[in-house]
Amino acid sequence: MIEIVPETPDQHAEAIEALYDRTFGPGHFAKTAERLREGNQSRPDLTRVAVSDGGVIGVCRIWPIVVGEPRVPAVFVGPVAVDPDFQGQRLGLSVTGEALEASTKAGCGAAVIIGSPIYFGELGFTLVAPDRFSFPGPQDMSRVMVRDLSGSADDLSGAIRAY
Ligand SMILES: CC(C)(COP(=O)(O)OP(=O)(O)OC[C@H]1O[C@@H](n2cnc3c(N)ncnc32)[C@H](O)[C@@H]1OP(=O)(O)O)[C@@H](O)C(=O)NCCC(=O)NCCS
Repeated sequence: MIEIVPETPDQHAEAIEALYDRTFGPGHFAKTAERLREGNQSRPDLTRVAVSDGGVIGVCRIWPIVVGEPRVPAVFVGPVAVDPDFQGQRLGLSVTGEALEASTKAGCGAAVIIGSPIYFGELGFTLVAPDRFSFPGPQDMSRVMVRDLSGSADDLSGAIRAY
C-alpha cells in the first residue's frame, strides 16, 4: 500500500536525499534551482512524501521564496522524484498535487516550478514569458511555470530569491 504523508524530517529527510541522488544523480546540486534551496528551509508540513512499506518512494518538496520588489511571498515546488521501481503510476503528479493542496490550504498565494511543461501542465502550471523572472543563475526559461494557489500567480514578476 502506498501512503502520501507530510514530511517528518527525523523519519524521512535522509531517505529523501537518497531518493534525489538515485533519480537525479549527483549533478543536481549544480542547478540554479538549488540556489533557491541552499540556506533556505523547506516546509515539511507542506512537502508530501509517498511511503511504501516504511520506505520513501516519492517526494515533492515545498520551499518559501520571495518574488520581485516589493517582495511577494510564494512557494517553489520540487524537486519531484519517484523511485524507478514505482514510476509509471503517476505518483509524481499525486505527491505534487497533494503538496499544492496543502500549500493552498496554508494560504500560500502562488507556486513556481521548473520542469517539464507537459508533465506539470497536468496540474495547472503554465509557462511564463521569458523576461518575467530572473533567477540567481542561468536558467532555461522554457521550463519555468507558475500556478495560482490561494492567490494569483499574476502577482509574481521580477527576481526570484530564497525566502
Ligand atoms: C518525473 C518523474 C517524477 C515522473 O514519475 P511518475 O509520476 O511515476 O511518472 P509516470 O511514469 O507515471 O508518467 C506519467 C506521465 O508523464 C509522462 N512523463 C514522465 N516523466 C516525464 C518528463 N520528465 N517529461 C515529460 N513527461 C513525462 C509519462 O510519459 C506519462 O505520460 P502518459 O500518462 O501519457 O503515459 C520520475 O520520472 C522521476 O523521478 N524522474 C527523475 C527526476 C525528475 O526528472 N523529476 C522531474 C523534475 S522536478
